[in-house]
Amino acid sequence: MAPVDPHSYTDDAHPVTAKAALAFYLDFAASTIHASALLTLSSPHSGDLLLDTRSLTVHSAATTTSPPDQIPFSLAAAADPILGSSLTLTLPPNTTSFLILFSTSPAASALQWLSPPQTASSLPFVFSQCQSIHARSVFPCHDTPAARLTYTLLLNVPDNLSAVAAARHVARRDPLADEHQGACDDALWCAQGRIVEEFEMEQPVPPYLFAFAAGGIGFRDLGPRTRVYAEGGDRVLDEAAREFAGVEEMVKVGESLFGPYEWERFDLLVLPPSFPYGGMENPRMVFLTPTVIKGDAAGAQVVAHELAHSWTGNLITNKTNEDFWLNEGFTTYAERRIVEVVQGEERAALNMGIGWRGLNRMMERFKDNMEFTKLKPKMAGIDPDDVYSEVPYEKGFQFLWRIERQIGRPAFDEFLKNYIATFKFKSIDTETFLEFLKTNVPGIENQIDLQLWVEGTGIPPDAMEPDSAIYKKICSLAAEFKSGKLPSEDEVADWSGQEWELYLENLPTDVEASQVTALDERYKLSESRDYEVKVAFLQLAIPTGCRCYFNEVEKCLKQVGRMKYLRPLYSSLARCSGEEKMLAHRIFSEAHEFYHPIARSVAESILSKHS
Ligand code: BES
Ligand code: ZN
Repeated sequence: MAPVDPHSYTDDAHPVTAKAALAFYLDFAASTIHASALLTLSSPHSGDLLLDTRSLTVHSAATTTSPPDQIPFSLAAAADPILGSSLTLTLPPNTTSFLILFSTSPAASALQWLSPPQTASSLPFVFSQCQSIHARSVFPCHDTPAARLTYTLLLNVPDNLSAVAAARHVARRDPLADEHQGACDDALWCAQGRIVEEFEMEQPVPPYLFAFAAGGIGFRDLGPRTRVYAEGGDRVLDEAAREFAGVEEMVKVGESLFGPYEWERFDLLVLPPSFPYGGMENPRMVFLTPTVIKGDAAGAQVVAHELAHSWTGNLITNKTNEDFWLNEGFTTYAERRIVEVVQGEERAALNMGIGWRGLNRMMERFKDNMEFTKLKPKMAGIDPDDVYSEVPYEKGFQFLWRIERQIGRPAFDEFLKNYIATFKFKSIDTETFLEFLKTNVPGIENQIDLQLWVEGTGIPPDAMEPDSAIYKKICSLAAEFKSGKLPSEDEVADWSGQEWELYLENLPTDVEASQVTALDERYKLSESRDYEVKVAFLQLAIPTGCRCYFNEVEKCLKQVGRMKYLRPLYSSLARCSGEEKMLAHRIFSEAHEFYHPIARSVAESILSKHS
C-alpha cells in the first residue's frame, strides 16, 4: 500500500481506472458541471479504492448491477493544498465498474468559465486545462500519468454553442433521456434549447490529456486531417487559417522523423487570451494561446512543439511529474528537428539559443533550491505549477543533443524511432529510458556521464551553447549594449520577434533607465504586438526604476493571461519596492477574474512570496 505518484492518492495495491463514461451537463449560469462518471477498473476489486478529487461535490456512488447498490464513500474533509481530497469508495466484492454522481465547483482549478462580456463572440465560453494535476477538479479519477484510460464524453450545452474535445467527435445531436446516467434530471438534460456533443477517445491517455471547450466556436479546414477552431468569428478564423496553413506539411515532417502519426486528426483550438499556456498538446486537438497568431515564425514553433508531443508525451508519457523531462525534453528536441526541416537550420539554432539563455537564467532562479535544476527532481510536497521552468525542457534537450553528438545523427534517429515504437501508449520513468539507452547504445555510459546528467544539479560541462552565425552575431550585439552601443537600423533590418527576443534576453540585467529608454525610442519594443518581445523588454525595464512603462505593463497583464508573461512581469514588479509593488497588487486585484484559476494562483503565490 503506497502511492504510485507523489501527486496522486492512487494506491499501488489497487487496480486503476481503465475506462470512463462521462456525461456532463454544463450550467453556464452557475459555472458548474453536473456530472456522472461510470468508471471501469483494470481488474475487479473489493474493499477500499482511492480516487483523486479537488473541490468536487460527490452526491452518490453505486454499483452498476440492477438494481444498483449504494457504495459507501468518504471524501477527505480537509483538502491537501496540492493533492486535493482523496475519495475512498468501499467496493463490494469483485467490483469492476461503478457510477459516481457529482458536481464541479465554480472554482474548479482546471476550468475557466468566461461570461459573455469576457468573450469575443459575446457568448459564454468554458475550457479545461488539466496538466499537471487538475483533471481531478473535473471528475474523480486516478490522476496520475501512470494510469492511462479511454473515455467517452457527452457534453450537454445550449444549442447556440458548440463543443470540442481532445477525442473523436461522434455526433452533435438531440439529448436522449437516461443517457446522462443520473447527472441531472431528464427534464434538464432534454430541455428545449439543449444539445449534446458526443466524443470518444479510444486510445488510452493519461488523465492530464483529458480536455474540452465549449462556446461560440467556429472552424476552418486546413488540410485532410487538420482544422483550426476559434471563437470570435470570420476575421479571427481567417487569420488563424493563414497562420496555420503549413500544419499538414509539419505533420508529414513529424511522421518522417518519428514514425506514423497515431492520432488520426491534428486539429487546433485557438483559445481566448486568458489561456494560461502557449500551447497544450491535448491529443487530436491542440489548445493554443491567441498570442501565437502574429504572422511570423514563432507561431509555427509552438505548433511544432505541440505536434511533437504527439510522439513524445502523448504516445510515450512520463510516469510521474518527476520524469517530466521525458515529455518536455524529448519534445523540445523533436520540435527543433521539425523546425529545422520546415524553417531551416538557422531558425532552429536561434530557438536553441533562446533555450540556452533560458536554461542559464533558471540556474539563477533556483540558486537557493538547486533540486529544481536536476533533470529528475524530487517532487513530493511540491506543486508542479510552482516549480514549472525551462529546466526539463532545455536540460532535457541538451542531454538528448549530447547523445546525438556522441553517436551521430543517423544512429540517434534510428534510436528515437525505436524508442517510440517500443514504448508507445506506455507511461515510463527515467530509469526505463536509461536502461533502454544502455541496451541499444552499448557502452554509452562510458562516454557520457549519464548519472551526472540525470541526478546532478546545474548544467553539465559537456552541454553545448549553440553555434550559428546569427546566434553569435546577436549575442555580440547584446554584449556591446553595456558600452552604450545600440544595434543599427541595418543590423536589425531583417529581425523578426525571435531575433529581438534573443537580443533582449542576452542584455545585461543591470542596465540604466536611460539606456533602456534609448533602445525603446528607436525600436518601440514596449509597444510591440509580439508579446515575447514586449515582455522581454518590459522585464528589462522594470528593475531600472523607469516608470514610463507602467502603462504598457498594466495593459499587458490585463490583456493576456499566459503564465509565461505573468510570471516574469509580476515577479519583476514584486521584487521592487514602493510603487512597482503597489502597481502589481493593484493590477492583480483588477485583473484576477480574467485569469484562469491556475494562472491566478501562480500570480497570487508570486505576490505573497514578495510581500
Ligand atoms: N505541456 C506543455 C504545457 C504545460 C506544461 C501545461 C506543464 C501544464 C503543465 C506544453 O507542451 C508546452 O510546453 N507549452 C509551451 C510551448 C513552448 C515550449 C513552445 C508553452 O506553453 O509555452
Ligand atoms: Zn511541451
